[in-house]
Amino acid sequence: MNKGIAIYPGSFDPPTNGHLDLMERGAKIFEELVIAILRNSEKSPMFSVAERLEMLRALTGHLKNVRIDTFDGLMVEYAKSMQAVCILRGIRAISDYEYELQMALMNRKLEPTLETVFMMPADKYSYVSSRLVREVAQAGGPVKGLVPEIVEQKLREKIDPAYKFRDEPREIVPEIIGGREKKRKKRA
Ligand code: PNS
Repeated sequence: MNKGIAIYPGSFDPPTNGHLDLMERGAKIFEELVIAILRNSEKSPMFSVAERLEMLRALTGHLKNVRIDTFDGLMVEYAKSMQAVCILRGIRAISDYEYELQMALMNRKLEPTLETVFMMPADKYSYVSSRLVREVAQAGGPVKGLVPEIVEQKLREKIDPAYKFRDEPREIVPEIIGGREKKRKKRA
């Protein structure tokens, strides 16, 4: 186990199984891992910072050396204030590499003593991103297996309380229309 604190910064909007996989891997190799949610993102998030904090706390409860926090402004300044020795970021595919390299080199320019460590999540999550999860869920598609169950539940509640995912069991119920009994599919 590496001595010192590592920061895993990100938007986590929402946290995915890929994020969780990386947290579990990171927790094994760092003494302490701080998951840091960016507060001042320009993007308009689907989940508030408080909601993301709550989800991440619930998801990492079993990882005793993992802590959840939020930050504002420059990430390297936050990392310094936490006396972190490195930044953890995930790389899924080559398409992530260019952005991550740019960010790592900019962070190194800003704070040369801080190293960025890249880890790969399990290959089964290599196509999973928060953006695609939001897109699929907003369009009514199933996100089972892509996000932890509590996140799936939060997505249901967020999108539309009346909205039902496609993979839920459907029940056939009789409906009386104009005196005739018609069968329709009712989404549970
Ligand atoms: O999950 P994301 O959205 O890819 O995470 C990006 C994040 C939050 C790590 C990055 O945008 C960041 O660190 N922002 C804080 C501002 C900062 O330090 N910018 C300079 C980094 S090159």
